[in-house]
Amino acid sequence: MNQNFRIRPADTEDLPMIGEILVETWRHTFRGIIDDAFLAGMSEQDQMMRHTRRMGIAGVAYQAGVDTDGLIGFANYGPARGSVSSGVMELYSLYIRPAAQGIGLGKALVKAAATDCRNQGAEGLFAWVLAENANRGFYEYLGATASARSTIHVGNSDHEQIAYLWQDLDELIEI
Ligand SMILES: CC(C)(COP(=O)(O)OP(=O)(O)OC[C@H]1O[C@@H](n2cnc3c(N)ncnc32)[C@H](O)[C@@H]1OP(=O)(O)O)[C@@H](O)C(=O)NCCC(=O)NCCS
Repeated sequence: MNQNFRIRPADTEDLPMIGEILVETWRHTFRGIIDDAFLAGMSEQDQMMRHTRRMGIAGVAYQAGVDTDGLIGFANYGPARGSVSSGVMELYSLYIRPAAQGIGLGKALVKAAATDCRNQGAEGLFAWVLAENANRGFYEYLGATASARSTIHVGNSDHEQIAYLWQDLDELIEI
C-alpha cells in the first residue's frame, strides 16, 4: 500500500468505491461482533445507494482519502441526528480500507472533517461507535470522551454504542 495520500472532498463519482470500502471494512472490523449472516449479506450496491441518498442531504459532507490507486478511505459528517447541544455536529462514518489502516489517514480525515465543521460554525463533534469495536480507542487517543450510551439493533442482536464527543474542535484540529 502506498504510504502517500491526499485528502479532498468526495463527490458522486466516489460513491461506488464508498460502497466497496464500507462493505470490506465492516466485514473486517465486525467479524465476531456482528453476526456472520448480516455481514455476508451486505451489498456494495445497497451501501452505494444509501450514501447516494445521504450525499444529497443539505449540510452533509464527505472527505475522501486517495492515493495513486484511488479512494482508500472516507469520512462523512453533517448536522447532528437526535437531540444534542447546539453547535455540535456529527461524524456519521469513518472507514479506512484494511490495507490502508495505520498510515495516518484516519487522523487526517478526522482533522479535515473537524476543520470543515468549525468553518461552518460548529464548536464540537461527536461519533457513535459500537462499544465492542476496539477502534473506539482511536477516538479516545484523539481526545474524545464518552458522552452518551444507547442500544442499537444490528443483524440479529442488540449492541451497545457509545457517543464520543470532542467538545473543542480547535483542540482536535491542533492534534
Ligand atoms: C479506526 C480507524 C478510522 C483509524 O484510522 P487509521 O488510519 O487506521 O489510523 P491512523 O493511522 O490515522 O492513526 C492515528 C493515530 O491513532 C492511533 N490509533 C489508530 N487506531 C487506534 C486504535 N484502535 N486505538 C488506539 N489508537 C489508535 C495510531 O497509533 C496513531 O497514533 P500516532 O498519530 O501517535 O502515530 C481505521 O482503522 C478504520 O477505519 N477502522 C475500521 C472502521 C472503524 O472502526 N471506524 C471507526 C469507528 S466506527
